[in-house]
Amino acid sequence: MDRRELLTGSAGGALLLSFGRPLPAKARDGTPISDVNFPMPAPRNSVLPPLPRSDPSRTRLELGWHFHEGDIHIPPPEGHHETYLSVKAGNARGPAAPDYDDSDWDVVRLPHDWASAQPFVETANVSQGYRPRGIGWYRRRFRLDPADDGKKLELHFDGIASNATIWINGNRVAHSWSAYSSVYVDLTPFARFGDAMNVIAIRVDATAMEGWWYEGAGLYRHAWLVRRAPCAIQSDGVHCDPRRDAQGRWHVPVTATLANVARAVASVTVTAELLDPEGNSVATAQAAITVPVLEQADAVMRIDLPAPPRLWSVDSPTLYTVRVRVLSDGQSVDERSIAIGFRTIRFDADRGFLLNGQPVKLKGVCLHQDHAGIGVAVPDAMLAWRLERLKAMGCNAIRMSHNAPNAELLDWCDRMGFLVMDENRQFNPAPEPLAELEWMVRRDRNHPSVILWSVFNEEPMQGTESGVEMVRRMVAAVRDLDDARPITAAMNGAFYDPVNVSSEVDVMGFNYYQDQYDKWHRLNPAMPMTSSEDTSAYETRGAFKSDPDAHVITSYDEEATSWGNTHRASWQMIAERPFVAGGFVWTGFDYHGEPTPYAWPTIASFFGILDLCGFPKTAFGIHAAQWIDDRPVVFLTPHWNWQGKEGEDIKVFVITNAETVALRLNGRDLGVQRADRMTGNVWQIPFEPGRIEAIAMRGGKVVASDAKDTTFAPVGLRLTPARDRMAGDGIDCQPVTIDAIDAAGRHVPTANLMTHFTVEGAEILGVGNGNPNSHESEKGNQRSLFNGLAQMIIRADAGPGTIRIRATAKDLEPALLEIARTDRPEVPQVAVPAAELALDNWRRSPVFIERPEPDTAPADGDNNSWAFVHAGTPTPAEDQPGWRVYRASFAPWKRMVAKGARIRFERIAGSAELWVDGVRTSRKNSAAPGPLTATLPAGPGERSVVLLVEAPKARESGIIGTVTVVPL
Ligand code: GAL
Repeated sequence: MDRRELLTGSAGGALLLSFGRPLPAKARDGTPISDVNFPMPAPRNSVLPPLPRSDPSRTRLELGWHFHEGDIHIPPPEGHHETYLSVKAGNARGPAAPDYDDSDWDVVRLPHDWASAQPFVETANVSQGYRPRGIGWYRRRFRLDPADDGKKLELHFDGIASNATIWINGNRVAHSWSAYSSVYVDLTPFARFGDAMNVIAIRVDATAMEGWWYEGAGLYRHAWLVRRAPCAIQSDGVHCDPRRDAQGRWHVPVTATLANVARAVASVTVTAELLDPEGNSVATAQAAITVPVLEQADAVMRIDLPAPPRLWSVDSPTLYTVRVRVLSDGQSVDERSIAIGFRTIRFDADRGFLLNGQPVKLKGVCLHQDHAGIGVAVPDAMLAWRLERLKAMGCNAIRMSHNAPNAELLDWCDRMGFLVMDENRQFNPAPEPLAELEWMVRRDRNHPSVILWSVFNEEPMQGTESGVEMVRRMVAAVRDLDDARPITAAMNGAFYDPVNVSSEVDVMGFNYYQDQYDKWHRLNPAMPMTSSEDTSAYETRGAFKSDPDAHVITSYDEEATSWGNTHRASWQMIAERPFVAGGFVWTGFDYHGEPTPYAWPTIASFFGILDLCGFPKTAFGIHAAQWIDDRPVVFLTPHWNWQGKEGEDIKVFVITNAETVALRLNGRDLGVQRADRMTGNVWQIPFEPGRIEAIAMRGGKVVASDAKDTTFAPVGLRLTPARDRMAGDGIDCQPVTIDAIDAAGRHVPTANLMTHFTVEGAEILGVGNGNPNSHESEKGNQRSLFNGLAQMIIRADAGPGTIRIRATAKDLEPALLEIARTDRPEVPQVAVPAAELALDNWRRSPVFIERPEPDTAPADGDNNSWAFVHAGTPTPAEDQPGWRVYRASFAPWKRMVAKGARIRFERIAGSAELWVDGVRTSRKNSAAPGPLTATLPAGPGERSVVLLVEAPKARESGIIGTVTVVPL
């Protein structure tokens, strides 16, 4: 039977049209079923629109990284001479050295989280999800166009987990402790151009922990090469957050901070243009500034709006763009495009949060950043997909717990209409962590989605003098950079202590302690407050009976931590109190690590409204019914596959935002109840196979329905993508759901069987099934269904074409899925050069009148009479003709040892003889500049390379181009 037959088996065309949905698209009476479809919504018939490019000077540096898992010993130098050299600039040793042999390392693509490929190990840290993290090394070679010489060059690493040391061309250039802060490295003084190779080396020590959750390991966010004009806007150097004055008029204050690396003072004009959502110019401003050499200066402008703008809101997230340009001699040399939104925000002590003057309850979730299969290396498109899932539930707010998020997550929040509590990681006002907090505010302060800064989460020092002093400093640092957003701290105690940090913040953030809301408000009637974290309830997706021995927790919303509450009770406490601005459920999605209440073999949390894959649990239906106001929602659980329990009572839970709800079993009415939107409605129904249906009504009219069918045994597999088309831009990703279906094409919610995949035209990044107790690998091409579902995350290949996915399982009909890749321009990446060793560091002898012997060498420890020269440095002309000896040595790479190599001098001025290991291998007879090459035989051991150059009188000579050794 082919897939089409399976789908058309019982319900004909309706099911085919609703591909991916187990239920008919229409309820029997013709009203649409709710948005809360199990297991997943139907695929979207469109490609995810790309995020606009805000900074054209950045190019992704994400391909061709060499990765070594584990540490590599850096051998200490031996003897005085080696020690002397080892501490000189450019001379880092071991894997930090540019010529290190990484040819047998894995080649990986960013974003990369090596911990997500680790097995689960009982002795590894429980909070990090029993995944050994350890230490790893990354290296990347790249070349720079000679046209980039003189530009301001940077490397950006948006997130490295954790404790990273970065070298460029053998120079240690940065150290970054936090996994959640970007590292911006000034490459300019170290850069080499043309054929010369640049080498980045990064040691990541992920044994460092900043959290009590899964943090991943490695270069897990974007990396960029940044090439800007010599006088250009700094990274995160534009502040353009709109303001509304007391008369209701809007303007956009724009400050652009410029830096100048040129050798002369720069006088430039900076323009700021406001574009409406359609791209039309609304208003402009400009400033002329002078930027001194190697200094910064601010261009301060103000854009006045000629007419009231369209406002940004959660339902209508209208974005304008501020385009800032730097003009030098009338030419645009640098540009940023920053999305902004016009909206007012205010936290009020009695009315909660006001957006554009209207109360908006924060229907929020806390998020960690990992996802099934990919760990913390979550591609942009997956970030968007996760937010879409939350939006479909009526969620309007996100707490970035407990760290700064990916920049792109905030870009999507702006576009989709989420309100964000942006949280700092380290509670510490010492210079390094304070700089991280300042970086977060500088990066994020233009986002209309960001409405609240949080300086900490649950700090034991929250009720101490010292804690207050720390918060005071951190609050002052935030206010210095942003006077438009209030600041909070997520407290979990010390609320009434005589000294506590609530005195220093604008909005009181309550973690849990929901029974204290009223008392606190009574005692602090003038201070706004929000729940910063609540709930912490447990659910295993698709399980309807707790089994402590098996670490399974019912998803009837019955179990919660001692400090938390069920989803329903928690929201009720918030919903009933207008003075509580809103809440942030712990958590939106399950996350790896912090397995609570069960530890090993459990490796992930149970807290999510959605599981690790983003498959909805009962909590999804609960929140959808509670949070969605603008359309009818009804949600029924559990599934109706209780074969063997005929006649036994099954608890049927229904929740709806309608007025009344009726239950029907196989067409028989089982009674109507007044709907309780807070607690839901419950029936005990003796099981009988067939269809159980909940019909939600308002004013006596059916407004929505949900149903579950008893299915037959699975006979086939099904593949359901989130979107039925993908962009061929080389970066588009999406999840694909795998489920088992019965002979009538219906989802079988109780199937737990192994499935295997093959994929053409895309790559599988990871797999998952949402089971917090599963130790199956999250990499590879197989995964068992857990309570009916599994997921693969794919990245589409570049270019137009077709993705073909095939899923198989023993004794079941395979599923085939085709997804079209549309022709979207490929996202540019920094080119990956062929691996070759650059022979850069040479010793050059004084001039000899007669031809010296090739074994002429400086005395050991003589760092003075022979010069240190780099390949590409001409030796100045002399009055007399003469000879010089150039010496270098290198350790051959493994492939060179095995197969030999080719050495290539790009340009030598003067005639020359090349000697390798005491043997003359080739010569260049002409004195005119030109190349010289030779073959080096295979074999182990340090190689000595000697070049004798004869320079004619009054002419430059020596190694005036690159020297490379290329493995054969
Ligand atoms: C909170 C904490 C969260 C998480 C949660 C689990 O106290 O802020 O990070 O640990 O408890 O219930």
